Amino acid sequence: MGPADARTAITLEVDGERRSLLVDNRTTLLDALREGLGVTAPKKGCDHGQCGSCTVLLDGRRVTTCLTFAVANDGAHILTSAGLAEGADLHVMQQAFLDQDGLQCGYCTPGQICSAVGMLDEVKSGHASYVTGDLAAEPELSDEEIRERMSGNLCRCAAYSNILAAIRQAATP
Ligand code: FES
Ligand code: FES
Repeated sequence: MGPADARTAITLEVDGERRSLLVDNRTTLLDALREGLGVTAPKKGCDHGQCGSCTVLLDGRRVTTCLTFAVANDGAHILTSAGLAEGADLHVMQQAFLDQDGLQCGYCTPGQICSAVGMLDEVKSGHASYVTGDLAAEPELSDEEIRERMSGNLCRCAAYSNILAAIRQAATP
């Protein structure tokens, strides 16, 4: 067996469930989830790290799953947009997208929601963005900040103003 045929057994925790699978070492995490485990919440848009539709929360941080190999994430805890709700209770970000009509076709939405949840945590942890003026101060969640921090998530339906309103709603105590 040559290196190109190499397979590895890995285990992932996906939305609270432990899942094991054998992957070709060249398999992206996105393909392992969708094709290997039938987890279809993360969507394949570009498969090149450009659209954000494949975003999940990986060990608590937002990650584009088309840009990382499954074998590199053995043992990782993955939360998809489908795993954010607590039973029948929607996550505040999911509810906000519904309330604010933050979607049209919905294809980008699972990635937008995971990214928005991860983004708010980054702000809470004091991470600056490209448009943060004062790097020493607590970042403020202006519309400009939200747009910049969500700029890795594209929406072909251009529902951006409602996505912004949804994130603002979820971020407002
Ligand atoms: S499918 Fe991963 S960024 Fe587009
Ligand atoms: S709602 Fe259609 S791509 Fe965003």
